[in-house]
Formats: sequence, C-alpha cells, structure tokens
Amino acid sequence: MRHDMQKEPLFSVQDLRVAFLRNGEYFEAVRGISLHVDHGEVLGIVGESGSGKSVGMLSAIGLQPKLARVQGSARFKGQELVGMSRRELRTLRGSRIAMIFQDPLSSLNPVMTVGAQIAETILLHNPHMSKRGAMERAVELLALVAIPQPDRRVTQFPHEFSGGMRQRVMIAMAVANDPDLLIADEPTTALDVTVQAQIMDVLTSLRKRLNLGLILITHDLGVLAGHADRVAVVYSGEVVEQANVDALFAEPSHPYTRGLIASIPDMSIETDRLFSIEGAPPPLGKLPGGCAFHPRCPQVHPICRTLAPQLRNFGDHSAACHFARIPTGSAA
Ligand SMILES: Nc1ncnc2c1ncn2[C@@H]1O[C@H](COP(=O)(O)OP(=O)(O)OP(=O)(O)O)[C@@H](O)[C@H]1O
Ligand SMILES: [Mg+2]
Repeated sequence: MRHDMQKEPLFSVQDLRVAFLRNGEYFEAVRGISLHVDHGEVLGIVGESGSGKSVGMLSAIGLQPKLARVQGSARFKGQELVGMSRRELRTLRGSRIAMIFQDPLSSLNPVMTVGAQIAETILLHNPHMSKRGAMERAVELLALVAIPQPDRRVTQFPHEFSGGMRQRVMIAMAVANDPDLLIADEPTTALDVTVQAQIMDVLTSLRKRLNLGLILITHDLGVLAGHADRVAVVYSGEVVEQANVDALFAEPSHPYTRGLIASIPDMSIETDRLFSIEGAPPPLGKLPGGCAFHPRCPQVHPICRTLAPQLRNFGDHSAACHFARIPTGSAA
C-alpha cells in the first residue's frame, strides 16, 4: 500500500526507545523502532520471545512498566502520546485506542456474566447510556465477533465459553467503544490452529467493518500470512525488516526473516523435525557488537561483527543487513 506523505497516518511510532535500569545503568529493550498503521490497515509485528514487541507497543500507548525510560515519539491522530498526562492517556485508551493484552483469557472476571462485563466497559465511557441499552449493545458486539446465539450467550459466565469463544469476548470488549486503533498482543497463542485461524478472521473482518487500524503482535510469522497487510520483523528491540506481507514472504531480504519463514510448520509435509534458527536472542544488556543477529546468522561476514547495519529502504521494503538481498519487486 502506498503511504501518503501529505497525510499523517492514524498511528505512527518514530525512533521509540525503552530502557530498563539495572545496577544503575539503563539497558535498551526497544532500540529505536519506527512503524505506522492507518485506518483499515493491518500491521503485523513479529519476533521471538523477548524481542521487545510487548514492551514497545505498550510503551507507545503509555503503558510502559514502572521505572522504564521511554524516548522517541508515538503519534495518534496527530497527538503525541509520549509525555502525555496519564489522565489523557487513559481516556484515549478507553475509547479511541484499544488493547488486547497478552494472556487475555485470565483477565475475564469468572463471577460476572459475559454480558455484564461487556456492558461495564461500555458504561465506563458512556455514563449516560442505560444498563439495558448497554446489554443490547453487548449482544450486538457478541454477534459482531461471530458468537452464535448471542442473546443467550450474553447471560452466561466465562467458564461456559471455550478458549476461542473467550478470546472473541475479549475482542468484543476491546471494540465496544468503537476505537480507531486496536493493538492485539499474541491474540491466538493459547489456541489451537483451527481456532487461531477463526480468531484472525474475526479480527481482520473487524478492521474492514469498523475501519480499524489493527496491530497484530505475534511470534509466529505463519499467522500473519493472509491476514496482515504489512509486517515489521523485530529482533533484539529493532525492526530488521519491514515490507508488504506478500513481498516479505516472496523475497525476504534479512537472514532472520528467512529463518522465521523456514520455521513455519508446513502442514502439507509430514515431518517430525522442524527447522529452527540456531541459538537464542541475546539477553537484555548482553548485545554483541556489530549486528545483533550476527552470532546466529548463517551468512555472517567479518563486517557484521563490528558494524551495526542501518535500516535501508528498497522502495516500500526495508531491511537492516549489510548483505540484504535487494528485492526484485522494489523500485530501488
Ligand atoms: N518490567 C520489566 N523490567 C525489566 N525488564 C523487562 C520488563 N519487562 C520486559 N523486560 C525485558 O524487556 C525485553 C522485551 O520484553 P517483551 O515482553 O517486550 O518481549 P516480547 O517480544 O513481547 O516477548 P514474548 O514473545 O515473550 O511476549 C525482555 O528482555 C524483557 O526481559
Ligand atoms: Mg510479549
């Protein structure tokens, strides 16, 4: 998708850095991430555990962990969020920006009906609405996330719902106040593969119906195929590749992205061994010199050990590797 330079995107993050204090020293878990998403667009953020996906996106909307230092910029509809007051941020998050947290299944209240929980979310931001009105809206929302018999389901408790159904309830609550931006952190991790695909369908159908900007955070690049428009690949707190989803799968230009693609299980091939990228990402504060990926890179060259590669643009495709394969589909 062509990015209109005249118009500011719905949500954009510029050189975002998040650091934690350890033994009197700050260590960056997020090391200058830039990305953007527009209305009706799905941005996938993918990377291994600990790469800074959650901390980065939470910090961008003012939900950084205590004692974290946040630098850079995160703009939503032209407003700067970094440094905004907690009160203003809370108002924005309840209405215009919604978040589905990692491990959301445990955040439903077991002793309240599903309908009452959705209604509570609605009433919090619409204090003048009647309780009955909020319950009617809860039924509509359950229908929106494709829960069958929503008028019956609305009076049930979370334990009467399957994992996939509970995740739909979380999505219904997230969109209850008609947000512009929805950030879903690992929305399908706890679910089996078939249910994962259904949840991704629900989410991506909402971005069309509600004209949402949607950010999908995942460690599984496979779930983004067919669902994201663009993908940002994150390694050790940095974006190492960003591209249109089809271009990323067709011509991945960073060795880390190629590793992630190779580790996606292929359902059509029966095998008991799955490729995985050797080694593990460096822990916080233990970054190697040069390119952060070099100790695990199958194509490592001497320069990679000493010089950190900058993110370079090849048209709409960008990659941070000295030896990035220039995509043939790019203008550069
Ligand atoms: N409150 C905190 N205090 C100190 N360090 C933290 C804190 N929260 C996260 N970190 C560190 O920041 C880094 C990024 O963590 P983050 O949770 O963003 O990773 P992630 O990409 O979301 O991983 P996962 O896929 O496991 O959810 C990790 O090294 C983590 O240990
Ligand atoms: Mg996370």
